[in-house]
Amino acid sequence: MVMTYLDRTMEIKHRIETRQARIGIIGMGYVGLPLALLFSEERFKITGFDIERGKVDKLNHGGSYIVRIPSTEIQLAQNRGFSATSDYGQIAQMDVVIICVPTPLNEYHEPDLSYITDTVRSVAPHLRNGQLIILESTTYPGTTEEVVVPLLEQGNPSGLRVARDAESDGFYVAFSPEREDPGNDTVARRDVPKVVGGCGPAALELASAVYASIFNRTVPVSSPAAAEMTKLLENIYRCVNIAMVNELKQLCMRMGIDLFEVIDAAKTKPFGFQAFYPGPGLGGHCIPIDPFYLSWKAKQFDFDTRFIELAGQVNLAMPYFVVDNIMEAMSQRDKALHGSRVLVLGVAYKRDIDDLRESPSLTIIELLKQRGAQVEYNDPFFASVGHGRKYDLNMTCTPLERIPEFDCVVIATDHSQYDYSMIVEKAKLVVDTRNATKGIEATNIVRC
Ligand SMILES: NC(=O)c1ccc[n+]([C@@H]2O[C@H](COP(=O)([O-])OP(=O)(O)OC[C@H]3O[C@@H](n4cnc5c(N)ncnc54)[C@H](O)[C@@H]3O)[C@@H](O)[C@H]2O)c1
Repeated sequence: MVMTYLDRTMEIKHRIETRQARIGIIGMGYVGLPLALLFSEERFKITGFDIERGKVDKLNHGGSYIVRIPSTEIQLAQNRGFSATSDYGQIAQMDVVIICVPTPLNEYHEPDLSYITDTVRSVAPHLRNGQLIILESTTYPGTTEEVVVPLLEQGNPSGLRVARDAESDGFYVAFSPEREDPGNDTVARRDVPKVVGGCGPAALELASAVYASIFNRTVPVSSPAAAEMTKLLENIYRCVNIAMVNELKQLCMRMGIDLFEVIDAAKTKPFGFQAFYPGPGLGGHCIPIDPFYLSWKAKQFDFDTRFIELAGQVNLAMPYFVVDNIMEAMSQRDKALHGSRVLVLGVAYKRDIDDLRESPSLTIIELLKQRGAQVEYNDPFFASVGHGRKYDLNMTCTPLERIPEFDCVVIATDHSQYDYSMIVEKAKLVVDTRNATKGIEATNIVRC
């Protein structure tokens, strides 16, 4: 008996509803692993794919490498059938494959899609009729249709094509952006609406059914490109507004006005205002990077994304602004930065997380070293900092008891477990880039 499109989509939906659908998640990082656990909690049997053997082994031994995910959660998921692998051969057994691999920028600030293209090339040979492939990695509008679909179609030996309408055979493709906010426990994951765009109505229907099993609300949009653009709009909105308050902070400092006080007052307005806070610069895998995916794509349309470029300039300059302020604060105390000892508190890019990707603290440390300071750091989430794509520090965490030895302590990340009164009391000079010392009156604090 020949299976029609309706039979097949009905069957897949039935498999999703009855939790028989096998879900493979590629990329067991900050996005993919929590997503795997969410599906597992809903009784799906999940396979996590990753090329890093260390992560696969750790997961299969019931361990975790993300601080906010306790090992017990991995072990509970294992009891529900969760396992990890580097073997792409297992893709053939999956009904749904969700791709959560990195999308960084290259050294020329252009999109580096190599993780996506490598992944898709690895998936393609194992594709089968009726499988649903969803991309979650943040990327420019057009990636799913222009990059993912052609690679899947070219790479599978049986000549399968993407199924776009009721008549056609093939596999389904959709894009659904991740909206993870690491460290934010105010909204339960399942309460964050999930935007979905499919290559055709069947893909949209199936992808929405998959996500409806773990999210309370799905938001269908007309195409993968609309879903890709939605994610970029969200992140550009943050990037531009953070740049605006970073610029205003510099003006307010000259004018002797406390911008944090102003923001607190402004946010009492019950409509038309959302609070964004200044800081030492942008960090993380999203806000400093994603907007440039759109700037790059815009050039194909002879279009300059001026807001993004301007916001990028302001935000990238912030670590330099912080270091200038450290130098100024020290010179007012008759100290030269060159040869002085500086302790940077916090290398994570934001409060209470174990992620230092693109962290402005790393830039601040590099700049301080270039200017001849002897720099050490403390961060409860990092016992050591080695080297990454954009840094090479090879440092170990200095205990807070040693604060009195330093000429200056810089609060770069406002982790909540720091005792700021104690820090101010013990330090000779505190440069606070996060307003973490709010409410503490002392002459050794410089806020910038
Ligand atoms: N971290 C966040 O808060 C966040 C939020 C929203 C969206 N995103 C987006 O989600 C995507 C993933 O981000 P992340 O933070 O989880 O990255 P990550 O670096 O934490 O994890 C990515 C994982 O993919 C694995 N990987 C890379 N290439 C692979 C391949 N070919 N096959 C299998 N595994 C492979 C890596 O080993 C790594 O474990 C990015 O596009 C990012 O922009 C991230």
